[in-house]
Amino acid sequence: MNSLKRSSNQEWNRKQSRKIEDLLSRFIKNGESSPQFLRDIVISFILAGRDTTSSALCWFFRLLSLNPDAEKNILKELETIRTSSGKSTGESYTFDELREMNYLHAAISEALRLYPPAPADTVACKSKDKLPDGTVVEKDWFVTYHVYAMGRMEGLWGKDCGDFVPERLELRKERIELQSLCAHV
Ligand code: HEM
Repeated sequence: MNSLKRSSNQEWNRKQSRKIEDLLSRFIKNGESSPQFLRDIVISFILAGRDTTSSALCWFFRLLSLNPDAEKNILKELETIRTSSGKSTGESYTFDELREMNYLHAAISEALRLYPPAPADTVACKSKDKLPDGTVVEKDWFVTYHVYAMGRMEGLWGKDCGDFVPERLELRKERIELQSLCAHV
């Protein structure tokens, strides 16, 4: 236990000395967050970020194991980025390098499309509103959207809507931001 504490302290100090700030540190640093607020932020991160991320990664790696060509494409992309930056295996990627990983981005988004960790989501209406198609939503009504079904609609994604095809997102790079947002949920 002590060595665990020591190593997490060392990690904290290392990050501090390199001035790397995570989101929680930023909340603490702005000085406006009460201890209760910080506690609630941490709990929301743990609850919202744990099962979603692990579910997304499980499906992603399962799909890769079933689609070796996609795995090869990802490795090729990483290799190209490594070569151009002159880094060796084991060194961390920078945010700029991450931004160059278009195929990986498409592959993760495609996995999220097929297996969204939050397959349905419900929101409550604060005041009377209208959906884009004109449907009226009264105050206090609930609206549920079904991400799992939307991600598999043939009308939206085509005949191969059930297949894992990262290229469908990669080929439409100009739309990937929008597609990723949809696939994210
Ligand atoms: C693949 C990973 C994730 C998926 C699929 C996912 C999915 C979602 C969905 C569907 C919502 C509800 C959005 C809405 O109703 O408007 C949401 C909200 C939220 N997520 Fe995630 N999430 C992921 C990862 C994370 C992580 C890693 C964190 C934190 C470290 C996080 C923190 C939150 C928080 C705080 C909210 C509430 C935002 C708000 O209501 O303003 N999520 N997420």
